Amino acid sequence: MSIKTAQPLSNRLGEPALAGRTGSRRPRAARLVRSMIMTSAPHIPVLREEAIAALGVHRGGRYIDATFGAGGYTRAIMAQPETRVLAFDRDQTAVKAGQALVDEMRGRLTLVEARFSQLEGVARAQSFAPLDGVVFDIGVSSMQFDQAARGFSFRAEGPLDMRMEGRGRSAADIVNEADVETLADILYVYGEERAARRIARAIVHDREIAPFTTTRALAEMIARVAPNRASDIHPATRSFQALRIAVNDELQELLKGLLGAERLLTEGGRLVVVTFHSLEDRIVKQFLAERCGRGETGSRRLPGETPPPPPSFVCEGRQPVTPAPAETAANPRARSAKLRYATRTAAAPYPLDERLARLARLPDRDKGKA
Ligand SMILES: C[S@@+](CC[C@H](N)C(=O)[O-])C[C@H]1O[C@@H](n2cnc3c(N)ncnc32)[C@H](O)[C@@H]1O
Repeated sequence: MSIKTAQPLSNRLGEPALAGRTGSRRPRAARLVRSMIMTSAPHIPVLREEAIAALGVHRGGRYIDATFGAGGYTRAIMAQPETRVLAFDRDQTAVKAGQALVDEMRGRLTLVEARFSQLEGVARAQSFAPLDGVVFDIGVSSMQFDQAARGFSFRAEGPLDMRMEGRGRSAADIVNEADVETLADILYVYGEERAARRIARAIVHDREIAPFTTTRALAEMIARVAPNRASDIHPATRSFQALRIAVNDELQELLKGLLGAERLLTEGGRLVVVTFHSLEDRIVKQFLAERCGRGETGSRRLPGETPPPPPSFVCEGRQPVTPAPAETAANPRARSAKLRYATRTAAAPYPLDERLARLARLPDRDKGKA
């Protein structure tokens, strides 16, 4: 398989990093215009050709697109004749917008509003197994990110929301209700924010005066208490990533999705995952390393310890695959993308081990927070 590789760059949120404050001194009219512009960008699929090549899409194959979004990957899979796709998205606006494609595909595409953690259950309920491939293009779409009203971006004034499903606890609920330790854990673990404790304390202090309700209010407070003089990444970048992960339970969802895919794939079926930050990539990398017989259980066994089960995947080729310079030039949001893939063997799926599970949840109280 020929897959292009290039050096990854480092923006972790997929958001163009802006230095300094979030523009509080910008006139209100200019801010409004900016918010309106932000709602108009279409979603450009990232690493689409590479993902389709890694998926080995073939005539008549059966695939899951776990992250339908604007349907870019699904369309590319369905360009092969007689393929069938079961597509998932937890965002009902994406599912509604995808109905036109469902109609166009005349029975070849089923699109469901569901999460990665429901992948196996939904696929079995639809008798959509075994599978030739499962693809994940993790994260938020441009439609979600660029809409100020969804509250994902610190660059636009919007409600502090960040819920992909529009249900459950919002970012504002967490910010205004969680205790200082929990807030610090979220910021430190999911955002790798070194000033986690300082920011958490400031949140708890300031919310006594007035609860945080908008993205800009939170971003400005973070820029004030933890200015980022050493780099041009906006001071709120890491905290916003952390809150988004917490609100949507993103790492647990990813892990459950990977486990479901392992159970659904037929021998020779492909698993392809595109991630956008190191926490996600670490889970995918370790999941595949273990299952391809390259994990610690494979190489560092103590005498008398049970040998690992036979590999449930084969990992081949140079990985991770990253976008070519032309793609990152055309679409800056592709900069931090990493693609990993593997081919299912006939071996039984692995049970979930504790080391992997730990990567996807908040640990016990950590040391070293500023
Ligand atoms: C980066 S976009 C996918 C874009 C898509 N590949 C395309 O070409 O249009 C990610 C999508 O996955 C969805 N998503 C994220 N986490 C999910 C989860 N746990 N379960 C289901 N969908 C999820 C988001 O709502 C979003 O629409």
